[in-house]
Amino acid sequence: MAVPRDARVRHDELSRVLRDARYRYDVLSDPPMPDAEYDTLFRELEELEAAHPQLVTPQSPTQTVGSAPQTAFPPFEHLQPMLSLDNAFSREELDAWADRVQRGLGEDAEAARFTCELKIDGVAINLVYRAGVLATAATRGNGTVGENVTAQVLTIDAVPYRLDVDDPPEVLEVRGEVYYPLDAFDAMNEARIERGEEAFMNPRNAASGALRQKDPEITRDRPLSVWCHGIGALQGVAFERHSQALAWLRDAGLPTDPETAVLDDVDAIWDFVQRWTDGRHDVAYEIDGVVIKVDDLAQREQLGFTARAPRWAIAYKMPPVEQATTLKAIEVNIGRTGKATPYAVLEPVLVSGTTITYATLHNEIQVHAKDVRVGDTVMVRRAGDVIPEVVGPVLKDRPDGTESWSMPADCPFCGEPLVRPEGEAHHFCENVDCPNRLLESLSHLASRGALDIEGLGEQTVELLVEEELVRDLADVFRLHDKRDDLLALEKWGEKRVDNLLAGIDAGRQQPLDRILVALNIRHLGPTYAKLLTRAFPDLQAIRDADVETLEAIDGIGPKIAASVHSWFSTPRNAELVDELIDLGITTASDAYVPPGEEAALPLDGWTVVVTGTLDGFSRDDAKQALEDRGAKVTGSVSGKTSLVVVGESPGSKRDKAEQLGVPIADEAAFRHLLEHGELPS
Ligand code: IVH
Repeated sequence: MAVPRDARVRHDELSRVLRDARYRYDVLSDPPMPDAEYDTLFRELEELEAAHPQLVTPQSPTQTVGSAPQTAFPPFEHLQPMLSLDNAFSREELDAWADRVQRGLGEDAEAARFTCELKIDGVAINLVYRAGVLATAATRGNGTVGENVTAQVLTIDAVPYRLDVDDPPEVLEVRGEVYYPLDAFDAMNEARIERGEEAFMNPRNAASGALRQKDPEITRDRPLSVWCHGIGALQGVAFERHSQALAWLRDAGLPTDPETAVLDDVDAIWDFVQRWTDGRHDVAYEIDGVVIKVDDLAQREQLGFTARAPRWAIAYKMPPVEQATTLKAIEVNIGRTGKATPYAVLEPVLVSGTTITYATLHNEIQVHAKDVRVGDTVMVRRAGDVIPEVVGPVLKDRPDGTESWSMPADCPFCGEPLVRPEGEAHHFCENVDCPNRLLESLSHLASRGALDIEGLGEQTVELLVEEELVRDLADVFRLHDKRDDLLALEKWGEKRVDNLLAGIDAGRQQPLDRILVALNIRHLGPTYAKLLTRAFPDLQAIRDADVETLEAIDGIGPKIAASVHSWFSTPRNAELVDELIDLGITTASDAYVPPGEEAALPLDGWTVVVTGTLDGFSRDDAKQALEDRGAKVTGSVSGKTSLVVVGESPGSKRDKAEQLGVPIADEAAFRHLLEHGELPS
């Protein structure tokens, strides 16, 4: 039967759009559409081809992987092709895949077991080790030929140059995913936004951009990391099960994701999928699904491959963290330091379980860089605890007559001019008495990270300001004298009033670093406030410090020094601080360390190796906890190692420690060490 014309036309169109999207995703690090839209179009193409098999050609996106590599990096032919994965979006599709696997193995075959891994939303990488030494690292490219990015990958700390095995295999192709850790990504984007540079769309793009820097020294500055999840070509060592291969990789010093499980049936897999769909933000890297793989390698061989993907694996895709919606308006909020932040008013949209109506646009520079306009369809993103963000417009859907947006000349709350100081990316309302600024600074003063005043939430703040019981920050500590006015407030009983007053008393006695945070000084968050209280004995000394003295403190940069100095020098603020001191706030620092008396850290001089899986710590957390206490954490055991921390399935490092007589600690001893600075006796 001939294929109807409209099916052929649609097939051509989908193929073109998908090929272009893939090229822009893989090569330009600039995808033209969200992953979910790509997946939907891909599905449509698959269904069209299923209905009209004559449409399938070897060039169809359903039969190919990735994009032809760019010429900027030398081409590298993978020893074994790097394939893609088929997707499942529901329990039914997962069941159907498991049924196909069982049928493929034959009724009599032993039931399959499955490795379940997190699907890392990063950049696919192929690491070729020859005789245990990294010979080549390459991107996926079109699956057969990728780009040689060895120099760039060698700058990634997590990738060992030499494998930590006694008898390295002749050839080993390791498959993995390069990712940008979320904390670092958020910090980097925040810094870019502060500097007025365009923010990266998401961690994957940032990782892809960092990996494809011509100058590897630029890659070195980016905190990329890797999870290894498979093996391609292999000579000189053999495995029976995938989980065994992963354990071997981990022992050889290649990072494998600890959140991996070997499970028996679809019910258990589904529990794993749900655990991670709900908890996708529990890990410090972005994931977009779960990859389920038949564990037994002989069974894998029996199942084989289609043109683009193995039959023995499937990717369960989680709902996207990005969605499209309409940008109805751009409004401006004035924050507690006077910062003017434009935000998007959206047609409400559900993004990974939460309805989003507002999303930040950061500042005018970002609005221009993204070129978002009122009336646009925009992509909205919600990743973890990060506030929802507008990623950018969907340009193909832009209506006629939209206009580029500019910051209004005056503050929408007090009418004073909005100014953008030199060197700042943001506009500010400089009016200390701006009504919105007051509300925001009072809410911040009472918040958890500052004075943590119970009973002084946003609504109470609004009410107290509206009733003119509070006109500035100091007035909060005068509320004791206004007990009768508080009691006269509608629905306020004695208990509520007393609770609030007790909360305020407790707030007044918070340590000095929290008091500093509560003052709403531009750029001064808890970390920097703590640095100040370590360097100065009391509030007066901080007030008196000039910019040079502030800048001389380790960790305090010129921007914070200038901001702190300028804040305390503003007469209106100086008056406020005087009043607060009179009202009894904490002024002495409990964290002050006189010069020359800096205490040594408890694990200074220790070199520690962590191996195996710990129950209560990810590998990163364990490393961080050790480093915070002064220890150096390394990947291989030697005579210089002070201690090997051993979790579940530790492998060869434990043996090596025993051979060399290096002390070994289990998780309980490790916890004791962290707590007491010494091993249990
Ligand atoms: S296994 C034969 N495991 O997702 C292909 N892939 O959408 C075997 N990915 O091409 C791939 N995390 O780049 C595998 N734990 C994981 C993964 C993973 C992320 C990537 C990989 C793959 C793509 C498919």
